[in-house]
Amino acid sequence: MRLSIFASALALVGSSIGASLQQVTNYGSNPSNTKMYIYVPDKLAAKPPVVVAIHYCSGTAQAYYTGSPYAKLADQYGFIVIYPESPYQGTCWDVSSKSALTHNGGGDSNSIANMVTYTLGKYKADSSRVFVTGSSSGAMMTNVMAATYPGMFKAATAYSGVPAGCFMSASNQVNGWNSTCAQGNVKASADYWAKTVKDMYPGYTGSRPRFQVYHGSADTTLRPQNYQETVKEWTGVFGFDASKPEKTQQGFPQSGYTTQTWGVDSQNPLGTVQGIYAQNVGHTVPMNGAQDMKWFGLA
Ligand SMILES: *[C@@H]1O[C@H](CO)[C@@H](O)[C@H](O)[C@H]1NC(C)=O
Repeated sequence: MRLSIFASALALVGSSIGASLQQVTNYGSNPSNTKMYIYVPDKLAAKPPVVVAIHYCSGTAQAYYTGSPYAKLADQYGFIVIYPESPYQGTCWDVSSKSALTHNGGGDSNSIANMVTYTLGKYKADSSRVFVTGSSSGAMMTNVMAATYPGMFKAATAYSGVPAGCFMSASNQVNGWNSTCAQGNVKASADYWAKTVKDMYPGYTGSRPRFQVYHGSADTTLRPQNYQETVKEWTGVFGFDASKPEKTQQGFPQSGYTTQTWGVDSQNPLGTVQGIYAQNVGHTVPMNGAQDMKWFGLA
């Protein structure tokens, strides 16, 4: 009893003095009924960067807000976090329909892009420092956002997803599950993947986000072949040879992990595509907020 009174008093104090997760209902056109939540830290940077953080299947904006490191990092660095929430039962993301896989196609990806546009306007945020990250289904959507809205994002980090287009539904199903892809049986060339990405926004010739992918070798939900395919996809898009990373770091960022980087040069010391393969880790590769900040160029 005493404890619970104490806890609610604390919660009250917490909500009255600190920033918290807020729902935004009128962020503009929302073709797929995707919900928008936002975290705006008390100490906002001038021209704040924006991070879009996308939850996994069965997740919610609230769960990803508390379960991922980005809100705390926002307090530290002064950026804004957008937490989209899936409109479907089971809360996976639509990464299978033609609408979702097309720039301004009217799917979830379109709604999420509109959240970014709203946030840039409302908070005078920095359009040259917008980032996207997510886990599992959210990582699939991270790939899709990078493919459908390449000019919107400066960098992306996908934790245990599949390449953009790998869940593409033959029957144009919305929010479909694609077992062939999940089981690691969609194996394609870098050219196929690059074309798949480019076809999501035909005619686009501008910049594309630097892409980082994490995957566990013991992932049985989205088989590790999806790591190879995602690396092929983004190295293919940028024209690097997936078999020839410029840099390989064993035991980085931690023991048992191997990091490979493509497109490292004096202009771009961080590289353009990075794959981080976690030996003996299953579907949940823990998010690494500190490394994400480095990859985004925020740290
Ligand atoms: C699964 O995705 C692949 C493309 O990656 C596609 O060829 C296949 O038709 C999809 N399966 C279904 C059932 O739609």
